[in-house]
Amino acid sequence: MPEATFDCVVRAGRVATAVDDFAADIGIKDGTIVAIGRNLGPGRAEIDAAGRLVLPGGIDAHAHIEQLSAAGIVNSDTFASATSSAAHGGTTTVICFAAQHVGMDLMQVVRDYSALAKKGAVIDYAFHLIIADPTEVTIKEHIPALIAQGHATLKVFMTYDRLQVGDEKLLDILFAARKSGALVCVHAENHGMITWMGKRLVEKGYIAPKYHTASHPRGCEAEAFNRLITFAEFLDQPIMIFHVSTAEGVDVIRRARGRGLKVFAETCPQYLFMTAQDLDKPGLEGAKWMCSPPPRTSTDQEAIWQGLALGDLQLVSSDHAPYAFDASGKLSAGPSPTFKQIANGLPGIELRLPLLFDAMVSNGRLGLNKFVELTATAPAKIYNLWPRKGSIAIGADADIVVWDPNRKVTLADGVTRDGTGYTPYAGRTLTGWPDCVLRRGEVIVRADRLEAKPGSGAFLSRSAGEAARPLQRLAADLDPVRNFGAKLY
Ligand code: URP
Ligand code: ZN
Ligand code: ZN
Repeated sequence: MPEATFDCVVRAGRVATAVDDFAADIGIKDGTIVAIGRNLGPGRAEIDAAGRLVLPGGIDAHAHIEQLSAAGIVNSDTFASATSSAAHGGTTTVICFAAQHVGMDLMQVVRDYSALAKKGAVIDYAFHLIIADPTEVTIKEHIPALIAQGHATLKVFMTYDRLQVGDEKLLDILFAARKSGALVCVHAENHGMITWMGKRLVEKGYIAPKYHTASHPRGCEAEAFNRLITFAEFLDQPIMIFHVSTAEGVDVIRRARGRGLKVFAETCPQYLFMTAQDLDKPGLEGAKWMCSPPPRTSTDQEAIWQGLALGDLQLVSSDHAPYAFDASGKLSAGPSPTFKQIANGLPGIELRLPLLFDAMVSNGRLGLNKFVELTATAPAKIYNLWPRKGSIAIGADADIVVWDPNRKVTLADGVTRDGTGYTPYAGRTLTGWPDCVLRRGEVIVRADRLEAKPGSGAFLSRSAGEAARPLQRLAADLDPVRNFGAKLY
């Protein structure tokens, strides 16, 4: 036997990146890709990828893991269960949240979530910092310190009673990010409209889960996007708009980007594959499909696909927000809650890639390269994990998924490994499934079995990167040349 040249070789697969697609072997050493070629020398381990697609590991840039909700319940996953679920679906990096609530010290919040992730994660991870209590010390001391420690995104809610920050505080947070260099991600919906509609629906007895959709009138998305974009333009601060659900929302983003603004946007599988009709189930069953913003119509789905095709939306993240359909989660307010008392969120960290693979690769919608771009390359670039993550290239981490493009899987409750026990996609059959998943060169899932130990995932320290760099277009009111000399930055 010739001496092994590599720790591992993934041999004879069809390799795809966001731009290319070719037959090759991949040689791995010390966790990184060191060779891409034909007939590479032997590896100490060999993975036969003949007849398979070899793609970069997915990056899920929006997942709530082991997180305390606004209503005070911890969601149904630990870092071990959520990241194991992610790995089974081909995701090797996750950006989740360190979630401050009112009264919490942000430095301590980050220490707490870091400890949970360090103990449980089986894939690599980074954090977005949720700012719900932007006190002076949070803004002036903690945010700059944490950005300097490698947490280069802040997350803000414009709705939810106990999380939303209001316009003035939103400006404070955008300005703090501009000063220290961070991207600001936003859950942008008009809080007043949601509260107003929710109250009226409940008062008149419309309390079933299906009324959740009407309680988030579609205009509340475009209104909040416009307001947020106005603020971001005013302060010259790049933003990421989370979970776009409406055609009007896509339109607002397209117009802002058309004016050259650094407005990035994501959508999620629930807005591509579900509609409001999914919530219309007997009794409380519809709670399993309740998330915010709610799934809309097939016309919105088409507009969102078009937004992805044109590049107006750059990412498809899961917004994994898992609550079991029992008293620990969806039914924590008792057996007969109104829709306002039911936790918002869906499990999705495992099926994000298989659902998109089925639609984009197996059924041809936008194609293989765009699948890689949306699920791995674009999140790596926007969140500054590139070039270490997000592609198959020499020098990159060997985060690799070997896909069986022909395997059919019929989804059912209990098939996925997160902590909810259900999937909103039960009954669908998907074509294409990960055969083998490598994280930094180590096999972490093979033949549907987890081979990684909890705690083997690594923290990814990030600076802000190109996406978060301001345009240097000062608003007239903030520009000393045009505001009679007032120095406000
Ligand atoms: O319904 C959802 N998406 N829950 C999670 C929190 C959020 O809004 O992102
Ligand atoms: Zn949200
Ligand atoms: Zn979310």
